[in-house]
Amino acid sequence: MQSKLVSRDDKLHVGIIMDGNGRWATRRGLLRMRGHEAGVEAIRRIVEAAPKQGIGTLTLYAFSTDNWRRPKAEVAALMTLLRFYLSNEVQSLVENGVRLTVIGRRDRLPDGIANAIARAEKATADGGTLHLRIAVDYSARDTILNAAAKAAALTSLTREAFSQLVTGEAGLRDVDLIIRTSGEKRLSDFLLWEGAYAELHFTERMWPEFEASDLAEALTVFHGRERRFGGLRPIAAEEVPSLSRV
Ligand code: IPE
Ligand code: IPE
Ligand code: MG
Repeated sequence: MQSKLVSRDDKLHVGIIMDGNGRWATRRGLLRMRGHEAGVEAIRRIVEAAPKQGIGTLTLYAFSTDNWRRPKAEVAALMTLLRFYLSNEVQSLVENGVRLTVIGRRDRLPDGIANAIARAEKATADGGTLHLRIAVDYSARDTILNAAAKAAALTSLTREAFSQLVTGEAGLRDVDLIIRTSGEKRLSDFLLWEGAYAELHFTERMWPEFEASDLAEALTVFHGRERRFGGLRPIAAEEVPSLSRV
């Protein structure tokens, strides 16, 4: 049995399925688009709050591969918001020490967005306070499938090596906690590999009304949970020995 300690960094990796923008808007008699706009404000609040609450990595689900099924006008509006976010937010991300990376496919995004992503990633590359990952045209299953295709060429494979193929990064911490807003209780193809032992937190709050205090509440519940990773005693994620034996 191989025993190897993974990262000793105890800052958490939290993933959020930012759901409920549309319902939040329609319940107020607004267009769904207004909900997505309000959702961007919620992203700003949570990105600012996250490092103060012990989060080192924050993965936000912004647009799934299955979201292409939505009406063209809504998809176009979401892409416009993404474009605005990438151009308007970089300065403040840099000032706050946030490193931005975007996960998911880039080749199907409207013209100019892939370049804007690359520019934002480059500009924020030195940020050491928070690693913000935004999932766009993202499918966990496709990500795993692509990693498997790359792995097929290798003669030996460990979980760590495969993780790197899935996440595109060496040593990215597994997801500690996945939060989903809007009362839905499913993962909708989000972080299926990295979230193997993630705690799950579901809240009725719609994403546009999600506040720093809601994040704090989710973390309080999280810290009250016993994570056993298959053993009999509670153990910190960074102390879990790797048992990979492929
Ligand atoms: C989440 O809100 C944002 C995206 C999926 C892009 P929704 O747009 O799914 O909102 P509801 O679920 O319809 O309320
Ligand atoms: C998941 O929400 C994707 C994002 C939040 C970006 P959806 O609203 O698309 O998920 P389903 O369709 O309810 O499962
Ligand atoms: Mg939804």
